Amino acid sequence: MVLFFVFYDSNVVAVGNCADINWDEHELGFSPVPTDFMYVMKCAKGDKFSQGSLVPYGNIEISPFAVILNYGQGIFEGLKAYRTEDGRILLFRPEENAQRMKIGADRLCMPSPSIDQFVTAVKQTVLANKRWVPPLEKGTLYIRPLLIGTGASLSLTPAPEYTFLIYCTPVTSYHKSSLNLKVESKFHRAITGSGGTGGIKSVTNYAPVYTAITEAKANGFSDVLFLDSATGKNIEEVSSCNVFVVKDNVISTPETNGAILPGITRKSIIDIALDLGYEVMERTISVEEILVADEVFCTGTAVVVNSVSSVTYKETRAEYKTGAETLSEKLRKTLVGIQTGCVEDKKGWTLRVD
Ligand code: COI
Repeated sequence: MVLFFVFYDSNVVAVGNCADINWDEHELGFSPVPTDFMYVMKCAKGDKFSQGSLVPYGNIEISPFAVILNYGQGIFEGLKAYRTEDGRILLFRPEENAQRMKIGADRLCMPSPSIDQFVTAVKQTVLANKRWVPPLEKGTLYIRPLLIGTGASLSLTPAPEYTFLIYCTPVTSYHKSSLNLKVESKFHRAITGSGGTGGIKSVTNYAPVYTAITEAKANGFSDVLFLDSATGKNIEEVSSCNVFVVKDNVISTPETNGAILPGITRKSIIDIALDLGYEVMERTISVEEILVADEVFCTGTAVVVNSVSSVTYKETRAEYKTGAETLSEKLRKTLVGIQTGCVEDKKGWTLRVD
């Protein structure tokens, strides 16, 4: 294997020249594929993050007393690196992820990397793993920044030490096809209103959806649409993504009220739709309303923009149009076009890495 060297400040790392993957045949999906390097930066409670470094990808050692393991003091982000037609590598709005991580860190009493530290670390991680960025149309490199309380504590207090860690892995689609959603009437994803943690990417928001998803999948559904926990009448979010409904060419999505994740794809799709001349509303949407929509779609970093073919609420199943002629497909194409450098980026959303 041919090796070349990459220099990052004081770090020198050797990188193989290409990933041993036949991108044409490999069915990546959304599962862990170990890559070459990860980024690690540590910080004591009360301090600021200062210097991180790239280290070979591998398991991390953690105290059994670590606060992340015992009390769930941790948040994460998700973003992607995209390969353009001419082989460049682009990130999409990474400073938005950095900003969202800061908000989540404040909520969970953690120090967070600055916007600049976050974006620089993401760039370094992608560059060190650039052979894992799939060619255009073969996938993307999914980047997962974690901010976790790794210091030991037995009492319910913020950890004495924090780790900011970034790993990455090549992925294709999160869902294999359009979605058949089940509206969940027993379990909730988040506490409605601004008092909970539904609006941040706390690690604790995710495992609680497993019961509902497992049951839904066993009954042939692809994912679960959660209702607000106060009244059980309004739609909030799918376990892994935000939701939009289209009726008479007006696009609506639940407003981010503290319970709903302020998705970066959600925000970008709203802007793209407005630019294309559509009316977009962020508002309360009842479950009855989604059942009479013309079109429903989901957005998220992992999910991108995926159309919903049906929503089932108790005994009622509503079906929606999907495919090439849908509004969601038009929005998806524009978004992916910008992300991959095929559509002009008039808003300065992309950041070149290499
Ligand atoms: C993402 O879309 O990046 C997420 O973090 C959702 C996760 C369930 C894959």
